[in-house]
Amino acid sequence: MSILGVESVVFGVEDVETCARFWRDFGLVEISCAADEAVFEVQSGSKVIVWHGDDGRLPPRNFAGNGIRLTYWGVDTQESLDRLVAGIETMCEVSRHADGSVIFQAPDGQHLGLRVWAKRRVLSCPDPVNAPDNIKRLNQHRQWRQKAIPKTINHVVFFSPDYVGSYEFYRDKLGFRYSDHSKGIGIFARSDGTFEHHSIFWVNSDLPFAPDGHAFMHIAFGVDDIDEVMLGANIMEKKGWKNTSMNASGGISRHRISSAIYYYVDNPAGGEAEYHADTDYLDDNWVPRAWDFKFGSLLWANNALPIFRGDDIPWDMSFDAEEKSFDPYRKGKPSPDVERLAALTKDDEHAI
Ligand SMILES: [Fe+2]
Repeated sequence: MSILGVESVVFGVEDVETCARFWRDFGLVEISCAADEAVFEVQSGSKVIVWHGDDGRLPPRNFAGNGIRLTYWGVDTQESLDRLVAGIETMCEVSRHADGSVIFQAPDGQHLGLRVWAKRRVLSCPDPVNAPDNIKRLNQHRQWRQKAIPKTINHVVFFSPDYVGSYEFYRDKLGFRYSDHSKGIGIFARSDGTFEHHSIFWVNSDLPFAPDGHAFMHIAFGVDDIDEVMLGANIMEKKGWKNTSMNASGGISRHRISSAIYYYVDNPAGGEAEYHADTDYLDDNWVPRAWDFKFGSLLWANNALPIFRGDDIPWDMSFDAEEKSFDPYRKGKPSPDVERLAALTKDDEHAI
């Protein structure tokens, strides 16, 4: 094991104060808040750091607007970090910093950091679920919460101009594991020292709704269960934060790929923030799969989009341990799904 997950993310934003209020309302724990910097954390110790977009500490801007400008992956030991950096240095220029972190730019444009991370254990105790004649709670109510308190950063999502290439860099240089491929849409992968279905998802920036090239899309936080997801959603709505992707994402929904329940909130720091529960957990016995994007996107949704309904959705999923599904989707190749993918609209962005 070496990479334990997202250690911290650094957002570059226009308005630090508004973003700090957002993360406070979202349920993150405030560490500090000043005019030019706000820092929050979750139980695992992962941090959300907010700086002004033109802050000199940030790497050069490589996409328009707000969003994550630097993603730090947490590494278990200094030895692991040194080994990873030795491999990366053959391909990328790296800079070493006084705090022990190493920063570099991946070939797809993403600015990345590595640092040794004393990841903390988290406490989770989801309520058992009852079903007829399968009673797991008798004379016992579900947990009463006052607010959602995210415990982990489960994943980050970026648009990529070459999503197969992005994955292959992470696989070869950072030891990431292939989880699933939504054909024409993107690849899900996890770092080797964590077990959520994915720690990162690269979305094809050639899609009709996507920006040109590398950009930030969203960040997902792990909570216990559907109750905590919806409590968080209700509180965010009450505090005036919007979910303009409500129709697009279908409101609360469950993906078929990853099985996760999700709910997005528009994030003033860029893209969306996601409450995320009941995801699949994987280890190295997992066999990756390649999916038709319509089939893989939704198991159900509060308001599924037309493109994800209907009788024309093929039950198309195949095991893909050899990564044979990638080839038609490499940069510069005409995608076999080009016409179907072209039918996607901005509204479909959040159901994929
Ligand atoms: Fe997500």
